[in-house]
Amino acid sequence: MTQKTIHIIGGGVAGLAIAWRLAQKNIRVVLFDKSEIGRGASWAAAGMLAAVIEAEPGEDVLIPFVLQSQTMWPNFAAELQHYTGCDVGYRETGTLFIAPERDDEGQLKQRYDFLKARNLPVEWLDRATLRKREPFLSPRVTYGFYSGQDHQVDNRALVDALHAACKKAGVELHAHADVQDIKISNDRITHLIVNGESIAVDDVLLAAGAWSGAINGLLQNVLPPVFPIKGQLLALQMDMRLPLLKHVMWTPQVYLVPRGDGRLIVGATVEDKGFDSTLTAGGILHLLRETWEALPGIEELPLIESWAGFRPTSRDDAPILGPSSIKNLSFATGQHRHGILMTPLLAATICEYISEGTLPQIAAPFTVARFK
Ligand code: GLY
Repeated sequence: MTQKTIHIIGGGVAGLAIAWRLAQKNIRVVLFDKSEIGRGASWAAAGMLAAVIEAEPGEDVLIPFVLQSQTMWPNFAAELQHYTGCDVGYRETGTLFIAPERDDEGQLKQRYDFLKARNLPVEWLDRATLRKREPFLSPRVTYGFYSGQDHQVDNRALVDALHAACKKAGVELHAHADVQDIKISNDRITHLIVNGESIAVDDVLLAAGAWSGAINGLLQNVLPPVFPIKGQLLALQMDMRLPLLKHVMWTPQVYLVPRGDGRLIVGATVEDKGFDSTLTAGGILHLLRETWEALPGIEELPLIESWAGFRPTSRDDAPILGPSSIKNLSFATGQHRHGILMTPLLAATICEYISEGTLPQIAAPFTVARFK
């Protein structure tokens, strides 16, 4: 029997994790990334596993999916670490949501009530408890709430670990491999044109993040409705002898993610600017000002990095998974704000879809057919 082959377009955490799972099932996987492997949204992210705190009104279908993926994280991180020897920086820090300014308190209460109404596990904290947990908070912070199940992973370490796992499992990884065109006959992809070379294919998975909506060779009615939403982020370096922050922390304006090595990741703007990756004074000012309102001690910290990335956002902010209108093309895209969080479940469901032909029930609401 000939071995099944799948060609994956996109080497972010979704493409890599799916490739790893498929290779573990003895499927031949060839993966193309148009630049360095994993240097898109997967690299730019902050690594929050915030299924609870990031839940939004209108996401009732999405919430069970992200919650299930969140429960998979401890085992997924341990398995990846065991397989590769790479620590992915999975840390059970929990997450706080606070309001540094009086004007923000309404939003804080509204979010808390919204989460409570959906039976999501959040705990209201008074000023004294907040201060005990985070002694360096601004004295103006009076209330907050806590989610004890929203943790974090170091997304860059995750990229490196998945890259190593794919290599070890025999995935054929091609960086700087631009899929310039796609040849289709009788509703099947026959060839990918990659860096000028025509490659015959059996099955194809599109996992190209924000670029998934603009792949040459697919007609508009085939392309998944995915577009980039820019986020600017920065990193400060904390003094690990006296870390300024221990939990992941949100305000209505920004989030802060303290890493095990003392980096404090601050994100993120939300901008509809196409693929313009410019870092702007306004974006950085916003991040620093809002962080300073919550944590005035950042004034003393070195600013070590700033960057921008593109969330792969779909028309309804939910992922696009499984079949397309082309028989041998499937999708794993449109993760919007949850790409890192979704990785374990996305890999499991898409691997099952490609290897067994059935899309698990938990992923069924997310096919592209919902947009027709
Ligand atoms: N999940 C965080 C963000 O999209 O900025």
